[in-house]
Amino acid sequence: MTDLQRLIRDVPDFPRPGIVFRDIAPLLRSHFAPTIEAMSGLLNEAEWSRIDAVAGVESRGFMLGAPLALRHGKGFVPIRKRGKLPPPVVEIPYQLEYGEGVLEMQPGQGRVLLIDDVLATGGTLRAAADLCGLAGYQVDCLAVLLDLNLVPGFRWQGIPARTVIRYP
Ligand code: PRP
Ligand code: MG
Repeated sequence: MTDLQRLIRDVPDFPRPGIVFRDIAPLLRSHFAPTIEAMSGLLNEAEWSRIDAVAGVESRGFMLGAPLALRHGKGFVPIRKRGKLPPPVVEIPYQLEYGEGVLEMQPGQGRVLLIDDVLATGGTLRAAADLCGLAGYQVDCLAVLLDLNLVPGFRWQGIPARTVIRYP
């Protein structure tokens, strides 16, 4: 277990009975800079130089994606839940634990690093990556802070999701 992983709080039965919520709030509260540095290190300098922007998935992907973009002098592109972005937007439906959601993004171009906090079933990251393509972006890399390892070896179109912490 890494030092950063020790700062993640396991909350049983949240948001529903039987689910263990991995709460990154204590980690961000006390070790925000080291967390961003660890995520920054998931790409080498050559990879960072090829990226035009960081795309982050609302809402916890914003907390990590925006400081990473700033750290590397890149733009930030929000991927939002339905109804928040003004047109023009492209959208994609995705599976949630119960039911369906919709992610939206404004059209654009360039190479992006796609960021989220957690990879669980992979439904969110897969949909967000597909959406980047629909919107006109090219996804160069995928990175998360935590991979819950529910989908060992997760890949999207051959691109692996890099992670700082992999459970268990
Ligand atoms: C959580 C988490 C990831 C996603 C991972 O987001 O932040 O985005 O679930 O799950 P998956 O791999 O099974 O798709 P959530 O939709 O709960 O909302 P939030 O980021 O706004 O808190
Ligand atoms: Mg999320």
